[in-house]
Amino acid sequence: MENIHTKIIKIESENIDLSQLREAGQAIREGKLVAFPTETVYGLGADALNDDAIVKIFKAKGRPFNDPLIVHIGCLEEAEVLVEELPAVARKLAQLFWPGPLTMVMKKTKIIPELVTSGLDTVAIRVPNHPVALGLIRESRRPIVAPSANLFSHTSPTSAQHVMDDLIGKVDMIIDSGQTTIGVESTVVDVTALPLRVLRLGGIAVEKLQQVTKTIIVANKYEKINKSPGMLKKHYAPRAKLILVEEKNADMIRIILNLASSYRIAGKKVGIIASRENSEKYSDFLVKNLGEAEDLDNCARNLYAQLRLLDELKCDIIISENFANIGLGRAIMDRLHRASS
Ligand code: TXA
Ligand code: MG
Repeated sequence: MENIHTKIIKIESENIDLSQLREAGQAIREGKLVAFPTETVYGLGADALNDDAIVKIFKAKGRPFNDPLIVHIGCLEEAEVLVEELPAVARKLAQLFWPGPLTMVMKKTKIIPELVTSGLDTVAIRVPNHPVALGLIRESRRPIVAPSANLFSHTSPTSAQHVMDDLIGKVDMIIDSGQTTIGVESTVVDVTALPLRVLRLGGIAVEKLQQVTKTIIVANKYEKINKSPGMLKKHYAPRAKLILVEEKNADMIRIILNLASSYRIAGKKVGIIASRENSEKYSDFLVKNLGEAEDLDNCARNLYAQLRLLDELKCDIIISENFANIGLGRAIMDRLHRASS
């Protein structure tokens, strides 16, 4: 693909320069690709109603056309024309969690192009909780489709630098507003039937959704692939081979040390992902910590950046500790499992 000029603009979340936001909104209206921050990860945005612009997203990312996109809107009311029905439970979840890292899959209207949904009769919608993302939607006066702004199957970007590393020369504009606060993608929930099905674990903990409705389950692998054709197992992956060690406590540490030594003897460069508490146990190796193991929100925020760092340092093998499978720890474990498959 031919290289294009990528314009980088800095917009501070707390001090938004409206003229820059207008320029970015105008670019979306002209069918251009604009990478922008959300609270989860950076998205690669385009006009959700413009087929040519949507095709460019798939090309820039190298993403297969059978992987549907999320439509980003400014508020719940904007969903009315995009979906056939807004089930009562969806309305309730939207009132509680929008704007925020919750994506809901609903029956689509004809307004949504087939390209967005890969031919499915449903569309995934969310209202992002980030002033720059919301400002861009407002200024463009369009719903915006935005997959994560990384090359297909690569680790999602949590900073503008990550976006540049993957997409410079392939997109028209990148808005830099610093690091994202949640750090993993939104939770995707199919609300078209009961029980509701979580298709992707993410930024809103399942436990929070369960406080609102008991009729919700986490979809199994078969359902995920069936309902969400793009949910390939190998995903969110660094370039290095990743090994997730599932044992706990002292066993986990011993196994990681043994694995790391044997790979090192075999001439491989090894990186380790650990909690802050444990990181000094591995000080003989290159180790990156995600923060205190108890603070899973913080660990989720740091996960992708640390994986990318180990890639940049040219590790052949990344060996990761496991994290508690509760709250945002579920999303962390989901991404580590996929990266290690
Ligand atoms: O946090 C996020 O959701 C980020 C930011 C930029 O908003 N976006 C994001 O998009 O992660 P993407 O394209 O990387 O992931 C979208 C996920 C895919 O797993 C896709 O299969 C699923 O949403 N999806 C989209 N439309 C769907 C539909 N109609 N039915 C089921 N799953 C759908
Ligand atoms: Mg993605």
